[in-house]
Amino acid sequence: MEDARRHYLAQIRRDGAELSPALAEAFATVPREIFVPDGFHRRDGRRVVPADPEFLPTVYSDDVLVTKMNGEVPVSSSSQPSLMATMIEALDVWPGLRVLEIGAGTGYNAALLASLGAVVTTVDVQSDVAARARSALARAGIAGVRVEAADGYTGGPPERYDRIIVTVGVAGVSPHWLDRLEPDGRIVVPVAHGGIHPVLDVRPAPAGPPAVAGPTATVVCSAGFMGAAGPLGARHPRSHPPAAVGLEDLAETSPARWQPPLDPDAYRGLWYAAANWHHRVSHASIPGREQSYLALLDDTGRAGAVVLADGAILASGAEAERWTAVGTALADRWQAADRPPMRAWRTGFALTGDPAAPIWAPSRWTLSSGA
Ligand SMILES: C[S@@+](CC[C@H](N)C(=O)[O-])C[C@H]1O[C@@H](n2cnc3c(N)ncnc32)[C@H](O)[C@@H]1O
Repeated sequence: MEDARRHYLAQIRRDGAELSPALAEAFATVPREIFVPDGFHRRDGRRVVPADPEFLPTVYSDDVLVTKMNGEVPVSSSSQPSLMATMIEALDVWPGLRVLEIGAGTGYNAALLASLGAVVTTVDVQSDVAARARSALARAGIAGVRVEAADGYTGGPPERYDRIIVTVGVAGVSPHWLDRLEPDGRIVVPVAHGGIHPVLDVRPAPAGPPAVAGPTATVVCSAGFMGAAGPLGARHPRSHPPAAVGLEDLAETSPARWQPPLDPDAYRGLWYAAANWHHRVSHASIPGREQSYLALLDDTGRAGAVVLADGAILASGAEAERWTAVGTALADRWQAADRPPMRAWRTGFALTGDPAAPIWAPSRWTLSSGA
């Protein structure tokens, strides 16, 4: 078991997460298997139960463990550990801080936070999921976590929090979270943008005059999360189109422009900037290819243009030429801006969505260098 845990930490670090000594200790000591007692679905869809030989090796790998499906759609999971680690490090937690988590899931992330000394309230919209998280935390002997069944939009129990962490993909920041947050607090949250969920580090607007329009954020990392239920997941006038799964009939309409092709970090930089600059940017998969791609989708949502990592453009549909031109212009603009990475951007927000349940959605982007 010690070998498995050592290998686990090494994998989390290799996949890009930095681990402080305290967080490394938390990952090394909180027993992840207790939070998936009935097994899980692996990323490839295979179901694994505790009696299977690959149960423990998969539990102690840097992979998402899907614990509840609604038909074909995953609706609860233990997220990828390297992503949890990056988000927890960005949250900057120390003993005694009051942390609200939206999306209890298995309870494992809350257990890691509690191991760092945080006093945690975690909420999940599915009451069966919340109940299972509560018993897993008790079985693991983790103190300092309260689990509530509630829609996270409302911000959980009406208390003050130093930190809020959101472990489900949302369309924007709930005003109720900002009401609960201490003025020097922060919210680490994956907010839908261009068909994916970049994780943002959101800071509340400073109090007092002059009135500021809303919170601001910087980017922590790229991520793909399952979408939230209720107002947190609702589409709004600023939403990008939903991802196109299996975009077909694509033909090359513009040749490669970057040799070597963009590395994954640079490609995400292009994707994020393109989504800042154009409201039809989303995410597409192509049959037979594993990767996911930056796409410009037309009104059908099933056709448009895909920009590959080498800058070549593949397009389909009646407006293939138009979307190729848009893709080319976005790539030119990003190139002319010196290829800013995701983390170079600062995000503003605007209040939007259902007036009965509004959210702060990303709306203005500036390069933090001032460019
Ligand atoms: C990726 S899982 C969370 C992983 C979890 N933090 C863990 O450590 O296992 C996302 C969870 O968010 C929950 N969820 C979805 N919409 C929600 C909402 N509006 N409010 C609260 N929880 C929500 C789902 O029920 C699901 O259990």
